[in-house]
Amino acid sequence: MLLDSIFSKRVLVRFDFNVPMHDGKIVNDFRIRQSVETIQKLLQNKNKIIIVSHLGRPKEGVYNESLSLRPISKYLSILLNQEIEFIKSYENKISFDKYDIAMLENVRFNVGEKSCSQELSKSYASLADCFVFDAFGVSHRKESTTFGVSEYLDTYSGLNIQHEISTINRLINENSRPMTIIISGAKVSTKLVVIKKLLNKCDFMILGGGILNTFLKAKGNEIGNSLYEKDLLEEAKNILNSKLSSKIIFPKDLSCTSNSKIENIEVNNICSDDIIYDLGEKSIEYIKEIVNKSSSIFWNGPLGYVEKVPFNKGTIELAKTIAKHKCFSIVGGGDTLPIIEDLNLQNQYSCLSTGGGSLLTYLEGGSLPILDKLNL
Ligand code: 3PG
Repeated sequence: MLLDSIFSKRVLVRFDFNVPMHDGKIVNDFRIRQSVETIQKLLQNKNKIIIVSHLGRPKEGVYNESLSLRPISKYLSILLNQEIEFIKSYENKISFDKYDIAMLENVRFNVGEKSCSQELSKSYASLADCFVFDAFGVSHRKESTTFGVSEYLDTYSGLNIQHEISTINRLINENSRPMTIIISGAKVSTKLVVIKKLLNKCDFMILGGGILNTFLKAKGNEIGNSLYEKDLLEEAKNILNSKLSSKIIFPKDLSCTSNSKIENIEVNNICSDDIIYDLGEKSIEYIKEIVNKSSSIFWNGPLGYVEKVPFNKGTIELAKTIAKHKCFSIVGGGDTLPIIEDLNLQNQYSCLSTGGGSLLTYLEGGSLPILDKLNL
């Protein structure tokens, strides 16, 4: 169903405003900017808009000011040059007397959001005449506002998700080889479970961060006090025992803290007190070679501890190398995009995606319930 056909209605719109924040300030607004086109289209057609989103992973049933959407509502209001009424609970009345847009507080404060409760989904649905989904970043989750509501209201896809999916599909269908997939960053468990299927699709896989550490540990390497996912060691071992593991590019050296000093250490010389924070010099050169011989690249997640110099080096070098190398490139994830934009490289990638874990799930052909429903 086309967004254009929604006219003079109350429209519930799900965006993914789960953006990086620091001390209540928005660190990167990419996902917010990508919502503007859909909002403007709905306003042009004289609709009233109720925006819903999550931010972070709060404990359900508990208000947590640091994860309130209020700063995002203010920011969006400035971006749109339009007042937005901020509403603390979905149980409050939305009159639209003064403004055409309302934004509800973080949906994950409500009990039943994560489990896609019928009751909660119905409550949301009762606020509106139809539902627009424009939150690719959270489309791999089956929650009340990412799926449940669609059981009770006519559901449409937003303009950003339509555009993103068609670009991603075009690149997937081109199937330009060799294909390299780069996976790193936070949310190790969400990403590690999709690796096996993604290895089937690519020619090379570059890993970083906690995911790489988990694989190194599973291989029997010493990783000192580095972050890794204990529960996923068996899964990592299974992958290492399969033929597919030859596609994984393991590092030669790593940038670590060792006895309070920053050192570049060969992968086999890591000691029990060391902490791995980034790829080392030789490894960075090696992954640059892989990038330079790739025809398509999908990248999700910074390679190292990017908040702290010099552990941002691997990520910065990677970002610049992909940008310079003319190939299909899709980059996604809330922590990766700020780096690309800070380096002003955004126009040198084929697609900047609002998706992170959802992009990887889409690539591996996994389940994205709301997209199936929308035939996207
Ligand atoms: C993301 O940033 O990856 C999405 O907003 C999904 O967040 P979640 O992993 O907490 O569901």
